[in-house]
Formats: sequence, structure tokens, C-alpha cells
Amino acid sequence: MITAGPVLTAMLASEHKLRRSEFGPELRAGFCLMGACQDCWVWQEEGVRLRACSTSIAEGMRLRTTPPEGWS
Ligand code: FES
Repeated sequence: MITAGPVLTAMLASEHKLRRSEFGPELRAGFCLMGACQDCWVWQEEGVRLRACSTSIAEGMRLRTTPPEGWS
């Protein structure tokens, strides 16, 4: 289990993907890895959106790969 580093690293280590593309069935895994491309958006359970590549994992963090209902 990864306990430090970017959220993206932990998610790819456990799932080998970050999310599904919103435009088709393709799997996404981030692209630039430096906070510029916005391909790695994930959401905290409370609805806060964050970039997985530039956010450090934290104990107790609960994430989702799709926007919560009503998120805009
Ligand atoms: S991978 Fe490009 S912003 Fe995160």
C-alpha cells in the first residue's frame, strides 16, 4: 500500500487506470503529470475536485473518479 506521494501514483498502483474518458470507453491515466492538462481530475467524497497528479495522498482520503451528483 502506498502511503505517501501523489494521489495519481497511488491510484495507478492499485487500479492501473485513473478513470474512464468522458468521451468514450477509453481508460485515462493522466497525461502531463504536472498539473497542466487537467486529465486527472478526481473528486473527494465531499465533492471537492482535485488534480490527482499534484495532490498528495492523506490518511483517510476518500476519492471518487466521477463527479458527485449535482456537481458542476
Ligand atoms: S496529469 Fe495533467 S493535470 Fe494531472
